[in-house]
Amino acid sequence: MTTPVVNLYLVGFMGTGKTTVGRAIAYRLGAKLIDVDATIEREQGKPVSKIFEEDGEPVFRKLERDFIESGHPARGCIVACGGGLVVQPGMLELLDSRGVVICLHASLETVLKRTRHSKSRPLLNVEDPLARMREIYSVREPIYRKAGTLLLTDNRSLPDVIAHAM
Ligand code: S3P
Repeated sequence: MTTPVVNLYLVGFMGTGKTTVGRAIAYRLGAKLIDVDATIEREQGKPVSKIFEEDGEPVFRKLERDFIESGHPARGCIVACGGGLVVQPGMLELLDSRGVVICLHASLETVLKRTRHSKSRPLLNVEDPLARMREIYSVREPIYRKAGTLLLTDNRSLPDVIAHAM
């Protein structure tokens, strides 16, 4: 296997495994993994939850957009995107023009299990996260459905998921 010449963008709802799957694909291909949230956190010097709290969600959305629009990363990278990035107008089209998009899916029950103890998802920091997820997902579902190739991560081992991605 060789390093891809375009970027591979992993998109999809929170907790569908974008970072985990991205890390494994990057390792297999010997490619660089770029995690958009982690990059923003590094550049801003604070976690996503603090950006939401102190600066507000619109500022975070602009940082996500700016990162992609600025042309990062150049080529041959595996890019794990935050769940809301592809929902922003024009973003999916831009990712499509820059590389290959894979959209990860998992049931919301699985997502709940995976994110239950996470402090890094401010949108789910509410009393009833499952209800909140349903609300957000119902708005985003049509966008995720048309976003690239579908990759299910529910009840599957990581090697099995990777085998289907490559
Ligand atoms: C978000 C998803 C998060 C992070 C932020 C907002 C979203 O990333 O970007 O909390 O709007 O779906 P993950 O999808 O990696 O959890």
